[in-house]
Amino acid sequence: MNKVSMLGCAVVMGAALTITGIAQAAPDRAAGKRTHPVVVGHRGSPGQAPEETLASYRDALRDKADVLEGDVQLTSDRQIVLLHDDTLARTTDVEEVYPDRTPWRVGQFTLAEIKRLDAGSWFGSRYAGQRVPTLKELLSVVDRRTGLSLELKSPASSPGVATLLAGELNAAGLTDGATLRSGAYRVQVHSRDQEVLREFHASAPKVQLSYLTGGRMLGDEDLAALAGWTVGVYAHPRVTGAADVRRAHAKGLKVFSDPVDGPAEVSMAANQGYDWVTSNFPATARRILDGRTPFAAANGVVVDSVFPDPGGDDAQPENSEHVVLRNTTSRPIEVSGGYLRDQASNLMKIGPGYVIGPGSLLRVHVGPGTNRPDAYYNGLTAGFLNNTSGDTVSFFGAGHSLIDIHSYIVP
Ligand code: G3P
Ligand code: CA
Repeated sequence: MNKVSMLGCAVVMGAALTITGIAQAAPDRAAGKRTHPVVVGHRGSPGQAPEETLASYRDALRDKADVLEGDVQLTSDRQIVLLHDDTLARTTDVEEVYPDRTPWRVGQFTLAEIKRLDAGSWFGSRYAGQRVPTLKELLSVVDRRTGLSLELKSPASSPGVATLLAGELNAAGLTDGATLRSGAYRVQVHSRDQEVLREFHASAPKVQLSYLTGGRMLGDEDLAALAGWTVGVYAHPRVTGAADVRRAHAKGLKVFSDPVDGPAEVSMAANQGYDWVTSNFPATARRILDGRTPFAAANGVVVDSVFPDPGGDDAQPENSEHVVLRNTTSRPIEVSGGYLRDQASNLMKIGPGYVIGPGSLLRVHVGPGTNRPDAYYNGLTAGFLNNTSGDTVSFFGAGHSLIDIHSYIVP
């Protein structure tokens, strides 16, 4: 399992800001009034459904994401599919279905071959049978009020993808460059590769483009260079401040967040003036930006803290990496059957008979150990919480209801 595969754009680490207040609306500079940021479902709603499947995109639509994000790549017979990684290994059962075809790159397989793969079971058995979708299938589920944000992910592995993408979008009537009621674009195309963006632009000149950078806000000179032909830049609010956002705005660029998951990060993005908030949990981002409580199923238990690097082996007996749950109430709360999920969808469960006392803590460990009332050990043999950059840990109740999200970075 790739520990960092869900992290999205790499974040250049710096001092973390802590803002716990509910987000303030971002300024609408043109109209002189304040509006909420656009909410982008990064890979759909991958905190709760297998990333970049139709199940994930349908969840994001249900949760009123303004934009669906996905990564486009070409199969060997030049069909456009949605998949984040260069290979099919992490998010499908390709290693079992095609054991002899390592390293299982997307471009090694025809669409018919890829369609045999299960793209849901790795996330959870109730998603068995989900498939890697084609772009056409995504276009068939998206409604007219929702924008698309498509990344030209690995142009070297998908030669010609930009022109083919423009052609499919043209055929679907999606290249008029329209701005939707939410403030999102009908389609926005982004990439870390400026050449492939220019290639796309040649065939779909009205579609808005954005350049993906690496967390920190670019310098003024780079922003000025992008302002001529792109509409925005990406950054992460943990390594920017409101002044950075203003610098981009001053050049006429919008600021799009790299994925932000926990309530604190969503609020940071909004309070700094980001125009678009990208999240692996668009429902939570929407609730926060609407001024509602972040979690409909909140029951008073929160993820208090994480210990991703205990020193020594991450899965060592008794002292493995762990997550601390806290009961914020004055009554006991049962957490049996609940589980924790990280960004790469590794799971830690909580066994039967676990009740967190009023105001008390429960440590949930990855590795083996002796269970006791304030500690539960999963007995796994390898650690997975991210030690070197950051991660998001989400806490679900026994019925798969989302109760809390905690994002952290490792400075
Ligand atoms: O932050 C924008 C997003 O498209 C980049 O995410 O996960 O494809 O690296 P990712
Ligand atoms: Ca992406």
